[in-house]
Amino acid sequence: MARFSPENLAHARLLLSLYPEPRSALLPLCHLAQAQDGWLTPEAMEQVAELVGVTPAEVLGTASFYDMLHTSPVGTYLIGVCTNLACLLAGGEELLRHAERSLGVAPGATTEDGMFTLEEVECVAACDRAPCAAVNWRYFGPLGPDAFDELVGQLRAGALAAEVPAHGVLSRVRRRRGLATTTEEVAAERRAADEERAARASAKAAEAQGSGDGGSRS
Ligand code: FES
Repeated sequence: MARFSPENLAHARLLLSLYPEPRSALLPLCHLAQAQDGWLTPEAMEQVAELVGVTPAEVLGTASFYDMLHTSPVGTYLIGVCTNLACLLAGGEELLRHAERSLGVAPGATTEDGMFTLEEVECVAACDRAPCAAVNWRYFGPLGPDAFDELVGQLRAGALAAEVPAHGVLSRVRRRRGLATTTEEVAAERRAADEERAARASAKAAEAQGSGDGGSRS
């Protein structure tokens, strides 16, 4: 599946309605598409582009900027083993080597069954749990070899499905409300900001003109 399912299309339209500008829903819609297919397929990016009124290239440009969005397939569980300083000192490098052996893949690769993608990552801000790993952006640590294997076993068995959703997508965090203001108020604020910008630009132009005149007089 690549285009939104009817249910997800309805949710996409709800998300669009939460923002004064459709393009502001670009990231939530990308997360929704990723929740559906596990990654952002070209077809999904096209549909997101149609819905928010930008080009597919702009969706790709945005999605490829963010680590949490995938523009190529990844495993159901993305395991990032941290080897930054705190984790390194606590055995992060050894944990990564163990993860490679245990999963049978090198960092950057996905297991044959499509369940796990292994990554070596920089500090994920869970230094107090060193050495740690992030699984779909949920943090686990400190992890020794046995704890790592137990974690993988639980993930494989679906025992952590509630805690670690497949593909770890943010669209599970569902928004039902938009800005606590009206579109008229947003438009009025935008008009005021535009007027202020225009006033500043004309003041600057007048100043430049004045100093130019002064220069010709001297
Ligand atoms: S160094 Fe590993 S989480 Fe900070």
